[in-house]
Amino acid sequence: MKAVILVGGQGTRLRPLTCNIPKPMIPLVNQPFIEHMLENLRDQGVTEAILAVQYLAERFRESLGDGSRLGLKVHIIEEPEPRGTAGAVKNVAHMLDGPTYVFNGDVMTDLDLRAMYRFHQEKHSKLTIALTPVEDPTAFGLVETNDEGRVQRFLEKPRPEDVTTNMINAGTYIMEPELLRYAPANQFYMFERGLFPTVLEQGEPVFGYPSDAYWTDIGKPQTYIDVHHDILMNKVRYSFRGREIADRVWAEGDVNVDSSAQLHGPIVLGAGVSIGPEAQITGPAVLGAGCQIGARAHLQHVVLWEGAVVGEDAQLDSCVVGRGSRVSAKARLSDGAIIGDNCEIGPENQLAHGIRIWPGTVLGEKSVTF
Ligand code: GTP
Repeated sequence: MKAVILVGGQGTRLRPLTCNIPKPMIPLVNQPFIEHMLENLRDQGVTEAILAVQYLAERFRESLGDGSRLGLKVHIIEEPEPRGTAGAVKNVAHMLDGPTYVFNGDVMTDLDLRAMYRFHQEKHSKLTIALTPVEDPTAFGLVETNDEGRVQRFLEKPRPEDVTTNMINAGTYIMEPELLRYAPANQFYMFERGLFPTVLEQGEPVFGYPSDAYWTDIGKPQTYIDVHHDILMNKVRYSFRGREIADRVWAEGDVNVDSSAQLHGPIVLGAGVSIGPEAQITGPAVLGAGCQIGARAHLQHVVLWEGAVVGEDAQLDSCVVGRGSRVSAKARLSDGAIIGDNCEIGPENQLAHGIRIWPGTVLGEKSVTF
C-alpha cells in the first residue's frame, strides 16, 4: 500500500530548531524523525511513500534519496508553492491508485495501521480518520461520530462550552483517491476546513477510527522534549540504537566517560560523546554525536544535538541545545529553554522560561538572566 506524508510545513512553532532543518528531519533520539516514521511504515506493510515537500525540500532529498537504505520506495515531490494539507495530496493524486494512508509528518504514534485498514474496509469507508482522546480538546480539531463510528460533524478548535467529544483528529488518514475530485486543482486547500467538511456534505462515507495508541504532535518545544522522555521511559514503541554500557545507559559508538562522572539512566549517548570528571547526567537525556560535557556540569532531562559543547559547572535542566552550540562554564539553562544551532552562550548566563535563542547568536558573559 502507498502512503503520502505531508512534510511541507515550516514548523513555525518549533523555531528556532526548524530554522535550518525541516521539522520532520529533526533528530528524535539521534535519528531524523522521518526515518523512524518510514521504518515504521515499512514494518507495517507500506511499500511506497510519497513525501509532499516544500520548505527546505533539498534536505529530504540529500538524506533519504530513493529510500532504498530504509527498505521502501520513497518519492520526494515538491510543490511549486505551499498548497495546504489537502492541496498537497491533490498535487500527487496522479501517483495514487487505491486506498492510501496519509500522515501529518509531525505525529509520533504507534498506531496499528493494519487494524485501521481492516476497519476502513469493513465499514466500506472512503475516508477514515484516526482519532485520539485528549484532555483539553479546545486546541484541536474535534471529530463527532455516531455509534457505528460514522463521522457526523467536524468542530475546529471549539470554545470550552461547545466541546461535545474529547476525540480529536490524530493526523493519520486512509483515503480513497476518488475523493480528491472535491479538491480544487493548483490551489491552497486544507483538510480540516476544506476537503473533510465538503466530503461529509456530499454524503460520502467518512469514519473515525478511535484508538488509545500513543500519540503526540512533536511540533512544539515542550512536546519535543516530552516525546524523548516517553521514548526513553518506554511509553511508546520505539527502537533506538546503541548498546547498553551501564544500567539504562546506551552508547551509539565509542564514548569517553570519566570514571568519576555519574550517569543515571535512561540516557542515550551518540558516538564520540565525552563526559568530564564529576559531571552528572540524569535521564531521560539524549546527547548527540560528538557532544562534550565539561567537568562538574549537571544535566538532566536534556536533548543535545550533535556537537553541542557544555562547559564546566554549567547546569542544564529540561532544555534543548542545537547542533554545534557551546554553553560556557557556569551557564544555567532550564525550564524549556531552546538554543538554536551554532550559538555561543557565554559564561554565567541564565536562560529559562521557554526562552528561544536563534541560530548563530553569541551571548557575552553574564549578559542575560531570563
Ligand atoms: P507550524 O508552522 O508549527 O504549525 O507547523 P507546520 O505547518 O509544519 O505543521 P502543521 O501542524 O500546521 O501541519 C501538519 C502537517 O502538514 C505537517 O507535517 C506539515 O509539514 C504539513 N503541511 C502543512 N502545510 C503544508 C503544505 O502546504 N504542503 C505540504 N506538503 N505539507 C504541509
